[in-house]
Amino acid sequence: MLLDKSLIPKVAVEKMNQIHDVEIDILNKLYESIEKYEKNESSLEEIEHLFEEFLKDVQEHFSFEQGLMEEYNFFAYPMHKGEHDRVLMELDQLKRKFEKSKDPSLLKSYLSQIFVPWIVNHVQTMDTVTAHFLSHFVRD
Ligand SMILES: [Fe+2]
Ligand SMILES: [Fe+2]
Repeated sequence: MLLDKSLIPKVAVEKMNQIHDVEIDILNKLYESIEKYEKNESSLEEIEHLFEEFLKDVQEHFSFEQGLMEEYNFFAYPMHKGEHDRVLMELDQLKRKFEKSKDPSLLKSYLSQIFVPWIVNHVQTMDTVTAHFLSHFVRD
C-alpha cells in the first residue's frame, strides 16, 4: 500500500471525505499494479488503464471542490484552484512523459515522492479550511 487512508485527515464536509477515500483506493491500486509489473505480474495495459482512472478521478475531485467554492463565494477560491491547476499540469506532463517512455517507474516515483506528500498536506491545509467554511452552507 502506498498511502494509508488514516493519514488523510477528515474534513468538515462528508462528501469531500468520501471523494478523498475513493481517490486513495485508486492511487493504491495503481501503485500495486506498478509494483506487480516490476515482478512481471501485471501488464502495461493494466497500469495505463488504472492511471487513466486515477487522472479522471483527480479531475472530478478538484472540480467538485471548485464547484462548491464558486457557489458559496469562498474567499480563498483563486488560491485553492491555483493549487489544483498546478497539480493538474504536473499530471498532464507526467502523462505525456509516460505515453512516450512507457516507463511505469516514472509514475511510481511521482506518486510516492510528489503526489502523496502533496495530497496529505493539501487536505490538512487548504481542504480543511475550505470544508470548514463550506460546512456552514452545505448539508451532506
Ligand atoms: Fe480534496
Ligand atoms: Fe482541494
